[in-house]
Amino acid sequence: MSSTSSGPNGAAQRMEYSEDTGMFSVTVEDLRTGETETSEFTHVIVGSGHFSFPNYPDFDGIETFPGVVNHSHDFRGAESFANQDVLMIGASYSAEDIGSQAYKMGARSVTMSYRTAPMGYDWPEGIEEQPSIRTIDGNTVHFTNGVSKDFHAIILCTGYLHHYPFLPSELALHSSNNIYPEHLYQGVVSEVNNKLFWLGAQDQWLTFNMFDAQAWFVRDVILGRIELPSLEEQREHMATWRKRFDAMETADDQIDFQTDYVRDLISQTDYPMFDLYEVADILKGWVQDKKRDIMGYRNATYRSVMTGTMAAKHHTEWINELDSSLERYLNDPESDEVLVQGHALSDSCVPVLFVEKGEVLSVGGRKGLYGTIGLMEDIGFAAVIVFDTDEHPRETSMEKLAALPPAVTTSGCWPRRPGASSSAGCWASCAGARRCPRSRSSASPRSQKACYMKYLTAVNTLQ
Ligand SMILES: Cc1cc2nc3c(=O)[nH]c(=O)nc-3n(C[C@H](O)[C@H](O)[C@H](O)COP(=O)(O)OP(=O)(O)OC[C@H]3O[C@@H](n4cnc5c(N)ncnc54)[C@H](O)[C@@H]3O)c2cc1C
Ligand SMILES: NC(=O)c1ccc[n+]([C@@H]2O[C@H](COP(=O)([O-])OP(=O)(O)OC[C@H]3O[C@@H](n4cnc5c(N)ncnc54)[C@H](OP(=O)(O)O)[C@@H]3O)[C@@H](O)[C@H]2O)c1
Repeated sequence: MSSTSSGPNGAAQRMEYSEDTGMFSVTVEDLRTGETETSEFTHVIVGSGHFSFPNYPDFDGIETFPGVVNHSHDFRGAESFANQDVLMIGASYSAEDIGSQAYKMGARSVTMSYRTAPMGYDWPEGIEEQPSIRTIDGNTVHFTNGVSKDFHAIILCTGYLHHYPFLPSELALHSSNNIYPEHLYQGVVSEVNNKLFWLGAQDQWLTFNMFDAQAWFVRDVILGRIELPSLEEQREHMATWRKRFDAMETADDQIDFQTDYVRDLISQTDYPMFDLYEVADILKGWVQDKKRDIMGYRNATYRSVMTGTMAAKHHTEWINELDSSLERYLNDPESDEVLVQGHALSDSCVPVLFVEKGEVLSVGGRKGLYGTIGLMEDIGFAAVIVFDTDEHPRETSMEKLAALPPAVTTSGCWPRRPGASSSAGCWASCAGARRCPRSRSSASPRSQKACYMKYLTAVNTLQ
């Protein structure tokens, strides 16, 4: 093998195989300079992934849908879904993940449309599953069960394509996203050309353990340490695994399948064996955690089979964590962030919001006012917003609040702005909420969300 001079900025543009020379010629473009270079290789390993080219199915009427239509590939954050009705098309990881993020960030409703089967989780109020789309008419989506609903945004969570534009069609891999793509002996060797390999072409459970095992196997084939059997034997071997693949029904079947596949690969090389059964148990436990609590499973932590180290628990529960930056993940919160367990979290009776440096410290219902003031005295604070309510806080509370420095009251909030007939005037003047804290109160998620969005618009005015 040789290497090209294009380095990390090189993109494979073209590849050909010559029966005469038994060599692959690969043309790589330096994306900075546009220069290309063609080099010869005895073997090629394709590691360009298969979650890069979005699958864009067509749906009747989607071209005239007036709202946002995106693929999950372009998803960067759910903040913009606050107060919106959002439709996910698809019933797999991306739909669940983005739908849950949208819910957390204050979407008014999240609908997920399935083609084959619903995910069937115990979704909270505000998330639902519907079958396939019959047609889309303006903002209105008509599902095959007769249900129709208006949406602001549609996210295609319809997966990805195995797409290798640099490969001639006869060498490319043509498959759906599954855990045993056809025509790959041992899951890595191209049946068409045994000197062409794929790493990570499967849908993944064991992911990086599998990549490692595959890499060791491919290395040993290239080095001649593993001799490939005849094409006929390769096909028999693939057919045996494929039969088992076709018989799989559950997620546990898939995990067992991939665990056995990885074990089989490892047994053929000097890759150090490790407790694959334990890995499988952890993955099955994760599946159960997800079934048990679809909004809480991300809080679970697991022990590394390799090191025995328990993963660190994140400082904030997923549902309350509104900042997914690395900085936030790696650092402890600057001060206690308390979302008072809400009672009376409805539009008419949430009088107090406390923020420090723009971070919500606590949200107090009317009954929680005294407790919240106590909290403020303990922690200190940079700003207090007291929201207008139908009933003003009692005199003693007002005195306490006034004595706490430095208190900021925003216009339209308590004390009531002269002439403002309700708190609505205050909210209406604020726009562009970016964060939406939630709480586990007895109020419905919908009314909580509406409330919180109002808080946030006010918080944003302080930032
Ligand atoms: C939204 C999302 C979330 C995921 N979450 C998880 C998770 O939680 N756990 C998990 O185990 N897996 C997860 N996965 C799967 C995970 O992405 C893959 O398992 C892993 O990244 C695949 O690694 P890879 O190296 O095969 O491909 P990639 O990570 O896609 O890397 C492929 C590389 O090839 C490069 N490339 C592509 N074409 C060319 C070319 N022509 N020339 C040169 N270079 C090229 C790309 O630029 C890229 O750097 C997730 C995938 C997605 C899409
Ligand atoms: N948190 C995570 O771990 C995470 C999050 C996101 C993604 N991922 C990774 O990313 C990979 C891709 O996940 P993904 O969810 O984007 O894709 P996916 O797992 O391949 O699922 C694609 C979904 O789109 C549906 N679909 C495809 N074509 C359709 C059509 N024409 N009409 C309606 N529905 C259609 C499929 O329906 P059928 O069921 O009917 O086939 C399926 O539900 C996963 O394998 C996973 O590794 C991981």
